[in-house]
Amino acid sequence: MIKRLSILPALFISLISCGQQEETNVHELSSPDGQNKIMFELTNDSPEYSVSHGDTEIISPSEMGFVLRNNDSLSKNFEITSVEESSFDETWEQVWGEKRNIRNHYNELVVNLQEKNEKQRKLQVQFRAFDDGVAFRYVFPEQGINDSIFIMDELTTFRLKDDGKAWWIPAYHEQRYENLFEATPVSKLDTVHTPLTIESESGLAISFHEANLTDFASMTLEMTSGTELKANLVPWADGVKVRTTGSFTTPWRTIQIGEEPTDLITSYLILNLNEPNKIEDTSWIEPVKYIGIWWGMHIGKYTFWEGENHGASTKNAKEHIDYANQLEIDHLLIEGWNKGWTPSWYENALHQFSFTESTDDFDLKEVTDYAAENGVQIIGYHETGSNIDNYLKQIDSAFALYREMGIRDVKIGHVGSMLNMEEWHHGQFGVNYFRYVLEKAADYNLTVLYHEPIKDTGERRTYPNMLAREGARGIEYNAWSDGNPPDHVTILPFTRFLAGPMDFTAGILDVEVSQGYPGRRVHSTAAKQLALLVTVYSPIQMLADLPENYVDKPEFQFLKDVPMDWEDTKVLNGEIGDYITTVRKDIDSDDWYLGSITDENERDLEISLSFLDEGATYEAQMYADAEGTGYQNNPLEVKITNKEVTAEDKLTLELGASGGTAIRFKKL
Ligand code: NOJ
Repeated sequence: MIKRLSILPALFISLISCGQQEETNVHELSSPDGQNKIMFELTNDSPEYSVSHGDTEIISPSEMGFVLRNNDSLSKNFEITSVEESSFDETWEQVWGEKRNIRNHYNELVVNLQEKNEKQRKLQVQFRAFDDGVAFRYVFPEQGINDSIFIMDELTTFRLKDDGKAWWIPAYHEQRYENLFEATPVSKLDTVHTPLTIESESGLAISFHEANLTDFASMTLEMTSGTELKANLVPWADGVKVRTTGSFTTPWRTIQIGEEPTDLITSYLILNLNEPNKIEDTSWIEPVKYIGIWWGMHIGKYTFWEGENHGASTKNAKEHIDYANQLEIDHLLIEGWNKGWTPSWYENALHQFSFTESTDDFDLKEVTDYAAENGVQIIGYHETGSNIDNYLKQIDSAFALYREMGIRDVKIGHVGSMLNMEEWHHGQFGVNYFRYVLEKAADYNLTVLYHEPIKDTGERRTYPNMLAREGARGIEYNAWSDGNPPDHVTILPFTRFLAGPMDFTAGILDVEVSQGYPGRRVHSTAAKQLALLVTVYSPIQMLADLPENYVDKPEFQFLKDVPMDWEDTKVLNGEIGDYITTVRKDIDSDDWYLGSITDENERDLEISLSFLDEGATYEAQMYADAEGTGYQNNPLEVKITNKEVTAEDKLTLELGASGGTAIRFKKL
């Protein structure tokens, strides 16, 4: 049970509050360490901003504002009515996370604007400068406008001073966020999803994203010309980008800035820009490690639908509970237990799943009772097929049923190119739908694991029952397609994972997938699969292989040991798309865990163990690629060795092609 203080002592200093007309149209804001700067300027009565880091200009003066319905511009003819500056410094504690205590330290500049024309509308721009980046958002305050407001375009532009290598996936794609990343110059970009990470020619690493995406459309980025990117809000089916009444507050537009790409991973700017935890009693929210009746369906051993190989039969579910018991993994996901699954369940159509009726060969009560007797928790599953109307009609009875059966966690899937076959997953409709379900789940004390989700923008801080989501190509692609190439998982930590936890579903030891479709396999060594449990951050992780593949495997010990909740995280080395080594300290002990992974190239990495406690001795329990192994050569063999180490030591990690090393440093 987790119960921690939600907030440590906070310090808030309001520095200046200037009233009435400002003398200058230029205002500058610096981060606490003085390195990151935002410059706001009213140029020809239009708001513009620019960003720099030290002596390096990152964003040249760039446009701000909106276009409303009837080509009504909300970007011109402004004057500054007042500015406010303040500083904030607080350390807050995560309910669960990759780091327990997070410092939220920034300087803020709020610029209040008003139109000089007869409409005299007000618009506020809030800027925050942190040591790890900058952010801004717009607030259109209540001002007696009771009509509906239709945002047709957001004009925010990011005019990058330098080109760079951009790591991107395309927006407006039927597979949502499930694409392989491409690396191209910024000047060759398509319209792309965020986080968009760029290794700038200036030498800096920069990532564009957004924080606190609430009742708004998500922002994609469009290359307009040269190295200029523009906000491209995902529209409703009728072309409107955002509909609201009276007022609106946009999500924060965020620019994380690192001297090295690895700096981006330990930046908590996105979380800091979300509201504090709204759930008072969080004692029911716990990180989870689980096995599943899942991989078996993806590799074709079982079916989601009823028939002789149905995965979710009572008999098979009980066998899996026995496996969970034997393996000492206390959660089990069961997919395909309900009515509505057919062999064409994944095709774009308004499928009619029931969320309360079990298939004829499955007895939910019998299974959950058997699980409880064996100390195993069932993770519930709802595949909506993106038929949102059908789901929302049943959501209360479906959640109530899970609660009645003692289920505490629910995975919710949204396969389909469009929600209700008409709205993008990432438009305002989708944003509001995903938030509604999350809040509803909290009412039923259920944690949520979204698949085919809206992208993460840090809402886990406000709603810690939002455990994780998919939102990228996970392991499943290896089961039924050419799969993910070896470098995929060395790109994700610098891109997708900057948004938040991902249910990646690693831990496949039989990477050759002996019971799967011919020719399909996971492009990884088994040791790399262990290491992924550390390089991937998520408070809920599936040990995704068939449970029988874990029985009597000495390397399973690492999967059993690895915690799901951390005191601290450090990234020891890494290059986007090549390799990464991450260490995390267990929240409940003095042990550290290391995961190191490489792309298709074998490599040796020397690491210093200076992150360990000084003066202490640790047993390093090491799981590495056996000599000569690589993803195409004897990938299953894991070499397990133990040795005593201290913070003074160095280790050389020998990674095979698409290989990895996982280590538990057990404090002696
Ligand atoms: C896609 C999800 O990513 C996967 O985890 C799930 O098993 C299937 N949909 C079925 O809902």
